[in-house]
Amino acid sequence: MNRFWNKKVYIWGASKFLQDALAKKFLNLDFCRGIFDNDRDKVGQNYCGFGIYSPDDIVKLAPDVIIAAVVNYNIINEIRAYTLSKGLNVEIIPIQELVQIKINKLDFFLKNNTAKLKILLQKAKQNYPDIFKIPSMLTPEEKILLYLLAKYYYTGEGKIFDAGIFYGGCTEAFLRGLLENNKQAAKTKQIWAYEYGYLNNNYENRIQTNTLGMKPLKNDFTNITFSYLNTLGHYDKVNFIQGDILKMQYPDKIEIMFLDACKTPEVNFRMQQLFTRLIPGKSIVIQQDYVYNLLPYIKVTMGYLKDYFEFVGATAWNSAVFKLIKPIPPEVLNINPYDRYSKSELIDFHNYYNKYLTEEQIKKIKESELLI
Ligand SMILES: C[S@@+](CC[C@H](N)C(=O)[O-])C[C@H]1O[C@@H](n2cnc3c(N)ncnc32)[C@H](O)[C@@H]1O
Repeated sequence: MNRFWNKKVYIWGASKFLQDALAKKFLNLDFCRGIFDNDRDKVGQNYCGFGIYSPDDIVKLAPDVIIAAVVNYNIINEIRAYTLSKGLNVEIIPIQELVQIKINKLDFFLKNNTAKLKILLQKAKQNYPDIFKIPSMLTPEEKILLYLLAKYYYTGEGKIFDAGIFYGGCTEAFLRGLLENNKQAAKTKQIWAYEYGYLNNNYENRIQTNTLGMKPLKNDFTNITFSYLNTLGHYDKVNFIQGDILKMQYPDKIEIMFLDACKTPEVNFRMQQLFTRLIPGKSIVIQQDYVYNLLPYIKVTMGYLKDYFEFVGATAWNSAVFKLIKPIPPEVLNINPYDRYSKSELIDFHNYYNKYLTEEQIKKIKESELLI
């Protein structure tokens, strides 16, 4: 926290978000001197270890920095207008920015070895695309996330479930991590990689031409995926399952579940039902289409199951990461929230995790909300 060295830093808003973020150790605000809150009844009280002040005290306390812990679109402008009206020039930082910094470094994978991770991320990014060769629809950050999960987090107790691999870019990221995971050297078929294998709409075609600069393929691309996976030279670690994931076999235990095939409500619901196979206290679910302006039912599912998962973090684009904290009763998983809940309840589920996201990310989620 060198950035705040020698500065008078205060928090704005004795909010639930602040309490949550501190409880989950998403950030450390020990250097802060107190909280401003508009609610006169709270003034003088203690919240999360900080004294609460009235905004009327702002000139006396003369903060250099205010961390806005109220998560709404206009809060920065409101605080700025208020401080300027008092003749103060204060740096105002949304709390999500600080949370995001921690999440982007993915500290938890390396058990707080941030320095090492920083070097690792830089190295991986510099070397890209040499590290990850297979053409992919994922961002480098997403691929590095998968790589780090396989390398540092994965224990082998369950399988790596890799749903919707296209040409296998995500599979490569997992595989490279796995190959550098000392405890996994002798094992085989840890990654169960699913792919439909042919173009059922224009989507993959567009990606191939626009993003990857390839000639559009007419139909089956399984052989391409297969040959890409083969170039990796460790095919024994991958169980490539070609076909509709709705009709395929699934592993008994899933330790890391990467979901990039939930392009229909049916697939999403089937994946929800598979959450019985996750390991409580250990399994990680990565929803690749979470920070995305379409596919609202994915967000609804995760909000519906909010009591069972903990939000771990999100990459700037698309992927959100969750950890299963306790077993989910099968009867809960057999309910499709769309069959049970009102539209306003579905919207609450859909937006539940917005409190952990940046304004930019929330904008996308808001677009997806319109499709409920
Ligand atoms: C966004 S792409 C995946 C990108 C990939 N994860 C990567 O790293 O580049 C989604 C993939 O899911 C596949 N898919 C969609 N529905 C599926 C289903 N029902 N069964 C299997 N695969 C499916 C599509 O064929 C497509 O290749």
